[in-house]
Amino acid sequence: MNLKQMAGIEAATYVKNGMIVGLGTGSTAKYMVDEIGRRVKEENLEIIGVTTSKATEKQALELGIPLKSIDEVPYVDITIDGADEVSADFHGIKGGGAALLFEKIVATYSKKNIWIVDESKQVEKLGAFPLPVEVIPYGSQQLMHLFEAKGFQPTLRKTEDNTVLITDGGHYIIDLQLDVIEDPMALGAYLDQLVGVVEHGLFLQVVSTVIVGSESGPETVHNPAAD
Ligand code: 5RP
Repeated sequence: MNLKQMAGIEAATYVKNGMIVGLGTGSTAKYMVDEIGRRVKEENLEIIGVTTSKATEKQALELGIPLKSIDEVPYVDITIDGADEVSADFHGIKGGGAALLFEKIVATYSKKNIWIVDESKQVEKLGAFPLPVEVIPYGSQQLMHLFEAKGFQPTLRKTEDNTVLITDGGHYIIDLQLDVIEDPMALGAYLDQLVGVVEHGLFLQVVSTVIVGSESGPETVHNPAAD
């Protein structure tokens, strides 16, 4: 079993009968969704899933997991998702898989958020991983110029066939190469107020539990600020 799979399967044990479960996106979340699908099929687990991307929706439907949209549920009990970086103070960067907008919406309406990562994602400070910023296409070049002038080293995200990536929400993603983010709260507040920015990949004060796949087994770390 690889480390991502280990974290995904461990996280699925938090899912209980009757829960409304936010289903994250990415290669780690995929293992968790597979495991929930297995439990639905083999253990008659009864849940409602709320997916965070078209990719996860497709996977969940193939596995027979009953789904509702975020607008059809009163709240989400628990959301399990991957992350690109998790800092020592439990902030995170997400959006490497381009699903940050829907992921943040589902996380916001979740009573509990669990992140599943392999140990390579744990960092002291955020920023080595490029920070995704989801933007409206109209005016996106102006934002590119603005980020360039700020020294943020922006790149417009492309697909494998070199066309501009369009998110599930119909937007572009600009990745910022920041190296070290000294003050994530201040950067998040700055990005939040920019016209044309829909959302950014800084997930601050969101996660309550991180499950880390490591060579010695899954390690569960609780965010003391979430209690
Ligand atoms: C998608 C995400 C993913 O959770 C994040 O990129 C981690 O992906 P992976 O588990 O494949 O490393 O935020 O938008």
